[in-house]
Amino acid sequence: MSKRTIVALPGDGIGKTVLDEAIRVLTAAGFEADYVEGDIGWEFWCKEGDPLPQRTLDLLEKHKIGLFGAITSKPKDEAFNELSPELQEKGLIYSSPIVGLRQHFGLDICLRPCRTYKGNPLNFIRRSANGSFDEPKVDVPIFRQNTEGLYGGVEWSNPPAQVHEALMTHPKFKKNFGNVPVEELSVSTRIFTKEATERILRAAFDYAKKYNYKSVTVCEKPNVIRETSGMMYKMAQQIQKTDYPEIQLWNTNIDAQMMWLTKNPETYSVIVAGNMFGDIVSDGFAGLIGGLGFACSAQFNPDTGIGLFEPTHGSAPKYADYPVSIVNPIAMIESSCMMLDYIDENEIAAKMRKAVAEVIAEGKVRTYDMMKMIGKADVVEKGAASTKEMADAIIAKL
Ligand code: NAI
Ligand code: MG
Repeated sequence: MSKRTIVALPGDGIGKTVLDEAIRVLTAAGFEADYVEGDIGWEFWCKEGDPLPQRTLDLLEKHKIGLFGAITSKPKDEAFNELSPELQEKGLIYSSPIVGLRQHFGLDICLRPCRTYKGNPLNFIRRSANGSFDEPKVDVPIFRQNTEGLYGGVEWSNPPAQVHEALMTHPKFKKNFGNVPVEELSVSTRIFTKEATERILRAAFDYAKKYNYKSVTVCEKPNVIRETSGMMYKMAQQIQKTDYPEIQLWNTNIDAQMMWLTKNPETYSVIVAGNMFGDIVSDGFAGLIGGLGFACSAQFNPDTGIGLFEPTHGSAPKYADYPVSIVNPIAMIESSCMMLDYIDENEIAAKMRKAVAEVIAEGKVRTYDMMKMIGKADVVEKGAASTKEMADAIIAKL
């Protein structure tokens, strides 16, 4: 097979460290690829006024597959102040390069698998009726619609007259908000399209079928948010009935789902949700399997094949300058395994996951988060593994 080219997008802070370590593990596992580096993040905002330069988009367009560390985002004022002086006159506005990538490439399918590793001291523990404790095994791949819904960005404070007039045509708006002065109104829309809803639902069902999961749960709130959540659930019923009768379809409300999270997380298989509820429920389940050091993700567009693989954590700036990096590289390494699955390098992915599982089960090498320490520069002296030591331990198992 010809050698792949992977676009490596280190970004900022610990993004750079974990990406380097993941590439070391990929290479040791026998994945042959060329890596080209794509510029993204805060540094490029400050220097060029653009955290996602066109040349980076071109690289991804060409090579299709991106491995992404993490970026730093800062509030509006700070973003302006850190912009290089000659750019400050240009009226540039910072916007997140991650959201930019999603929108530019239509990366509407987001997958965040949450799986327990045996022996991870951060696994959720539950008290049973008889007072003993057990550790439910979580294996919940979560599909999150990634481009619309509440994060679609269609929102106003003090909405323009035409918008206000349109809202006034809705009886409930008129009755409940009709007397509110327009300058006291903020409106964020929650737009679902049939096309994108069908795509995320089918992605979830296809995945359940391919990997033998017994159920797909739509986690929304159709009893209250009738139009958007309601449409998603209705479409799911139709799709399940016609194309996936062997897979059960369940329906939970996001609020109840979060309450049940710690009661019976092992009951759930594939979960699918809109943008915001998908974000919430995936963070909830990630908390049961070890949190940010373990939470991996994929974002992709099935039509173009463009895919981006990244840990869900950010750039953790407070740890970025430690002389020895202390953060857990497993979320990034797991994201690399998702990339391998996506490009049908399943054997190498399985090999890497097995190595990670062995290191965790053995329990000799643990980063500070796994030792439940407070993240400080001295954790390595106190016995925690550094980022590099964790990657070395995984490589040794390959
Ligand atoms: P963060 O995820 O960077 O860090 C939160 C805390 O989680 C850290 O202080 C650390 O205690 C822990 N943590 C994160 N990654 C870890 C790892 N691999 N191993 C062990 N512990 C880890 O989130 P925070 O502090 O809210 O944001 C920092 C910056 O990152 C901000 O500028 C934010 O905008 C950005 N961010 C970027 C994301 C991305 O690139 N996808 C996602 C979230 C935040
Ligand atoms: Mg989140």
